Formats: sequence, structure tokens, C-alpha cells
Amino acid sequence: MKKPEDRNIKAVDFYYFTGTGNTLLIVHKMRDTFTEKGVKVTVNKIEKTVSGKINPENTIGLAFPVAIFTTYPLVWDFVKSMPEVKGTPVFMVDTFGGLSFGVVGHLKNVLRKKGYRVIGAKQIQMPINVFIVMPDDWSRKRIEKGYETARLYTEDILAGKSSWKSFPLLSGLMYYLCIGVFKITDWKIHQKYLHMKVETVKCNSCGICAEFCPANNIQMEQYPVHGFKCQYCLRCASVCPQGAIPGFINYKKVVYKLPDNSLEELLRHDE
Ligand SMILES: Cc1cc2nc3c(=O)[nH]c(=O)nc-3n(C[C@H](O)[C@H](O)[C@H](O)COP(=O)(O)O)c2cc1C
Ligand code: SF4
Ligand code: SF4
Repeated sequence: MKKPEDRNIKAVDFYYFTGTGNTLLIVHKMRDTFTEKGVKVTVNKIEKTVSGKINPENTIGLAFPVAIFTTYPLVWDFVKSMPEVKGTPVFMVDTFGGLSFGVVGHLKNVLRKKGYRVIGAKQIQMPINVFIVMPDDWSRKRIEKGYETARLYTEDILAGKSSWKSFPLLSGLMYYLCIGVFKITDWKIHQKYLHMKVETVKCNSCGICAEFCPANNIQMEQYPVHGFKCQYCLRCASVCPQGAIPGFINYKKVVYKLPDNSLEELLRHDE
């Protein structure tokens, strides 16, 4: 049997993106587990990070949600602009609702070409935040399961037992089909035609949605106006205290919120 590699990890820098909070919960669980084991951890928002500033001496953790079988354009932009390195260890964790193929293999290739040493990839199922929103009790149970997976994964990373497994052909094929052939992840087309809307009768013009939009896509006029740079991450809908922004295609107007409604506080705390 292959011996676990001695990783001797001393410091981890997380770079994460979250729309509605699931990924951030997982990052916090992993941060706490690393910290308990004596590892120094920083947690950084992708949208606030200049990727050239990444410290290649530390282990890098990338965390993001799955979106349309891949992930959001701002996450890919960040990854593509990460500096070239000589063997910096990197692991990834994503959260998803139920079906994910296209991201793990493609990301592995991109990072390897830049000189990173890929040491772990994990996809963690969390409550789905789009189309179907389950009751809070159900979400809580799924989050608890996610926490357990995150804890075990962190311990595996430290023990040298994690790996970046992917099915390169399947992952590559899905990425190619979604992006190249069916264009379902052609964000530019969505951004042109698909706009989030505010229900002005509910809106109190507080501006919280604009403050938290990671893409600076919301202008505050009398009411918020969404522009053409949307990632469809649903953060604006999730933080709105008035429930004035329905899901992005208005489907049943469902909006996912963390069961304790803590997204705004968590995001502020991470500044
Ligand atoms: C626009 C959009 C697309 C999504 N696409 C997928 C998908 O292809 N597969 C999947 O399993 N979940 C998908 N989801 C669900 C999220 O990946 C899942 O709920 C994730 O945990 C959300 O993380 P966050 O709260 O950190 O944003 C999608 C969510 C959104 C908003
Ligand atoms: S967060 Fe909600 S209530 Fe506040 S400005 Fe935005 S849409 Fe209106
Ligand atoms: S407008 Fe809303 S859904 Fe679009 S990027 Fe900003 S926060 Fe995300």
C-alpha cells in the first residue's frame, strides 16, 4: 500500500467565493479544523484579492460553489490570473446541490500547468440554493453532513491521505459540452439577456444588495438596478432583508437563506 506523503503543512491561505453562504460555512469548518491542529490559516474573499499577491510559500485552498456544472466566471478569472509557481501545494473544495461534473478535472489541468502541486479535491453536497429550496430542518441536516465531510477531508489533507482524483475524460467532456457545444455556461449570453429584478413594492432602498454584490453589478438609484456583469450567484437575493429580490428566473420566487439567516454577518466578519 502507498505510504501517506508527509506534508508538514504549517500555513494555509484560503481563497473562496460564496454566493449564498454554503461554501463559506465549509471554509470556516476547515479553518477551525486546521487551527485545532496547529496550522495557521487565513481566509480571503476571491473578489477582494489581487491573485498576483498570493504567497507561494503557503499551501493554497481554493473554495467555490458549482454553477451550471462548472463554477462562476469570477472564480475562473481568479484561477487564470494566479501566478506561476514552483510546486506550491494547492487543494480545492467545492459545494454543490446534487450534480456536478465539469470542474475538478479542468481546474487540475489549469493549476498543474502553472506549476502547482495538486494535493486534494473534494466536492461537498450542501443545500441546493436555486430552483428548489428545502425547509430549514432539512438544510440543517445537510449542512451538518457537509461539516463532517469537511472535517474528515481536512484531516486527510494533513495526514497526506487526500488526492485530486478526477475522471479527466468525463470532466473534460462535460466542460467542453457545457461551454463549447451547448453554451449553457456561456455567461456572456446570460448576462446580456437574463437580468435579476427587484420587486420595488417590497424594497426599502437600504442598499445592502449593492454593498454585497461581488461583481459590482448593482447600481443604487431610487431602487437597485442590476447591470450586465451578473454572476447569478444569488447573493443579492439572499442578503436582502425584505425578500425583494426573487430567484433569477423568478421561478416560484424561492430564495435560499442559511437556516440561521447569518450570511450578512458572516460576510462582514470576514472583511
Ligand atoms: C446559477 C446556479 C447554478 C447552479 N448549478 C449547479 C449545478 O450545476 N450543479 C449542482 O449540483 N448545484 C448547482 N447549484 C447549486 C449550488 O452549487 C449549491 O447550492 C452551492 O452549495 C451554493 O454555494 P454558495 O451558497 O456558497 O453559493 C447552482 C446554483 C446556482 C445559483
Ligand atoms: S437589499 Fe433588498 S430592500 Fe435593500 S435595496 Fe436591495 S432589494 Fe431593496
Ligand atoms: S447582482 Fe446578485 S446575483 Fe448578480 S453577481 Fe451581484 S449579487 Fe450575484
